Amino acid sequence: MTSGCCASSNLRARRCPHRTSGRAARRASLGAVTTAFADLQAQIYMGGLSGSRPELPISWPALERHACDQLDEVAWDYLAGGAGIEDTVRANHEALERWRIVPRMLRDVSQRELARTLIGTTMAAPIMVAPIGVQSLMHPDGELAVARAAASLGVPMVVSTVSSFSLEAVAEAGGGAPQWFQLYWPSDSALAASLISRAEAAGYRALVVTLDNPLLGWRPRELQAAYVPFFKGVGLANYVADPVFRAGLDRSPEEDPGAALGRFISVLLGRLAHLGSPLVSTREDRPSDRSQGHSGSRGCRSGPRSRC
Ligand SMILES: Cc1cc2nc3c(=O)[nH]c(=O)nc-3n(C[C@H](O)[C@H](O)[C@H](O)COP(=O)(O)O)c2cc1C
Repeated sequence: MTSGCCASSNLRARRCPHRTSGRAARRASLGAVTTAFADLQAQIYMGGLSGSRPELPISWPALERHACDQLDEVAWDYLAGGAGIEDTVRANHEALERWRIVPRMLRDVSQRELARTLIGTTMAAPIMVAPIGVQSLMHPDGELAVARAAASLGVPMVVSTVSSFSLEAVAEAGGGAPQWFQLYWPSDSALAASLISRAEAAGYRALVVTLDNPLLGWRPRELQAAYVPFFKGVGLANYVADPVFRAGLDRSPEEDPGAALGRFISVLLGRLAHLGSPLVSTREDRPSDRSQGHSGSRGCRSGPRSRC
């Protein structure tokens, strides 16, 4: 998967524009989503006074190892594996490591404001949860749990087309918190229209269209295990819940899961037909990106490695 994607604010912003101007106006409009992220650190130290320790590892590598320990092999390989010899995964990781936060000294930081508004969506910090498909592989609550967590932090979640729960169920779990919908543009335009109108009806505020996935990547880990979740019926929730998808079947997915899988495979990745403006491209394809190894892989954070 690559990072060639774009976000369209057509869904909700058209009806409900969230225009702000000036820092003061922004501060006022963002008040409702302020989250005191820095309090977590104090809470941990306070907990230590009564002998409690964090339940989960704090450092990213330790957290990753913990996830690996908890998951079965196919789930881990789906999560951590990349295409080919995974050199793009490595290159992306290295490129990210070159970014640094630039400290600015002698500023008044008594009032800190992390909240931002992006194409009409206000968030407590300039962070969004990336679309990750088939999350029930990781935990039975999958996207529902992530929606609840994201909502509790004021961080918007981008819900994948290939989620394990329907987009309506994930919206409900989010309890009205801002969410965007990621679309793998299907080969059936009527299905695309149906998915988009369902997302709009469920309250999603923008559409993120993944553009660079015309076919599944060559992913050795999954190939070696002869396993991809969709073939087991995982990640099809948005399709089997869709009236247009169902109308294209002779028998319902419940009666004939094999036929539903066949239709899913035939519609999953189509050519992008038409998308109204405005479009916000998340990445320019600059030559310098290519020379630095940003080939656009949206694969995985961890490079090839022995298990855990
Ligand atoms: C396990 C996994 C599943 C993903 N599923 C999707 C998906 O369903 N739709 C999508 O557009 N991107 C998907 N992505 C790409 C991510 O949204 C993200 O763009 C990519 O992982 C790059 O971010 P990172 O460097 O922080 O991992 C997936 C990535 C991973 C690792």
